[in-house]
Amino acid sequence: MNAQPIIKAADADTIAQAAGVLRHGGLVAFPTETVYGLGGDATSDAAVAAIFAAKQRPSFNPLIIHVADIAAAERVASFDARARRVADRFWPGALTLVLPRRADSPVSLLAGAGLDTLAVRMPDHPVASALLRQAGLPIAAPSANRSGAVSPTTAQHVAQSLGHRIEMILDGGACRVGIESTVLDLSDTRPALLRPGGVTREDLEAELGPLAAFSHGEGLKSPGQMESHYAPLLPLRLDAAAARPGELLIGFGTAPDAVLNLSASGDVTEAAANLFAMLRSADRQGFEGIAVMPIPEAGLGVAINDRLRRAAAPRPLPGPAPHAK
Ligand code: TXA
Ligand code: MG
Repeated sequence: MNAQPIIKAADADTIAQAAGVLRHGGLVAFPTETVYGLGGDATSDAAVAAIFAAKQRPSFNPLIIHVADIAAAERVASFDARARRVADRFWPGALTLVLPRRADSPVSLLAGAGLDTLAVRMPDHPVASALLRQAGLPIAAPSANRSGAVSPTTAQHVAQSLGHRIEMILDGGACRVGIESTVLDLSDTRPALLRPGGVTREDLEAELGPLAAFSHGEGLKSPGQMESHYAPLLPLRLDAAAARPGELLIGFGTAPDAVLNLSASGDVTEAAANLFAMLRSADRQGFEGIAVMPIPEAGLGVAINDRLRRAAAPRPLPGPAPHAK
C-alpha cells in the first residue's frame, strides 16, 4: 500500500520470509545475475495482475517465468531435445527460452499474455535460486522497474522506481551481468533471437548454428521490443564524439570530457554492467540531454546498442509508453 517497501539484506531468514510472501500471493523484488526482478506467483492471475499494476505497463506484455531447475521448467513448458540441450548448456544463466506452453501448464494465462508460448528462465544467482526453491512455485518476474524506465541493478533502484508498490525488496547487492537475459525463441523450427542480452549470439550460434536475424522494426515477435522501452527521462543522442552545450557525455574508452564512463578500458562487459545505473544517474545531474559515445557492435555491445537505440527512439511524453506491436 502506501508504506515504504522494506529493503532487507538477503539471508536465510529474509529469503524464507520472502518465499512466504510469494506463496501468499504477494510481490517480492529479488536479485538475479542480470537485473532485479519483480516476482509474483506465476500460477496466480491475481499475483500476475498485481505485477502489471505495479509496473504500470501500457499493455500485458508476457512475463518471464523463473524456475529453480530444469525439472520445474518442464512442468510449465514443452521441451524437445534441442531445448533440453540448450538448457543443459546455458542454465543456470542469462538466457530465456521461449517454448510451447504445455496444455496442462499451471501458469496463469495472463502471465503469458494469452500466447501459446511461454518464456522460461533459470537464473544464476544464489538468492534467486534459494527463493525459487523455497517458494516451490514458478515465479513470474519482469524487471523490477516501472514500465518504460531503465531496469534496476540494485535494491535501491527498485525502491526508487517502484516505491510503495511492493511488499519487500531482497537486497543481494549489485547485479553481476547488469543487462537483461537474452530471449531465444525455440518454439519454431528455426531458432530466433528475440532480445539480445547477457548471453551472446556467438555463444548461442556455437550451439545451435545460425539464428534467424534479429532486426529492428520488422515483425517484432517479442512484445517487449517497443521502440522506446528502455528510456531515461532526458533525450539521448547516440554515437556522439563530444558533448554539445547542455549535454552530459557518457563515455566509452578514453574520454577525458565524459562525466560518466561506461568503461574507461573499452570493455563492453563492464559497460553492460554499468549501463542502466549510469543512464539513471545521468538523468539526475541537471543537464538537458545525454550524449553517448559509440559502443562497438560486438559481444555484449550488441545488447547495449539495442537498449540505447530504443532509449533514443522518439517517444510520446509524458504519457504512457507507446503501444506494443
Ligand atoms: O533478465 C531478465 O530477463 C529479467 C530478470 C528479472 O530475469 N527479466 C526481464 O523481464 O527482463 P521483462 O518482463 O522485463 O522482459 C521479458 C521479455 C520481454 O521482451 C517480453 O516481450 C519477452 O521477454 N517475452 C516474454 N514471454 C514471451 C513469449 N511468450 N514470446 C516472446 N517473447 C516473450
Ligand atoms: Mg523490462
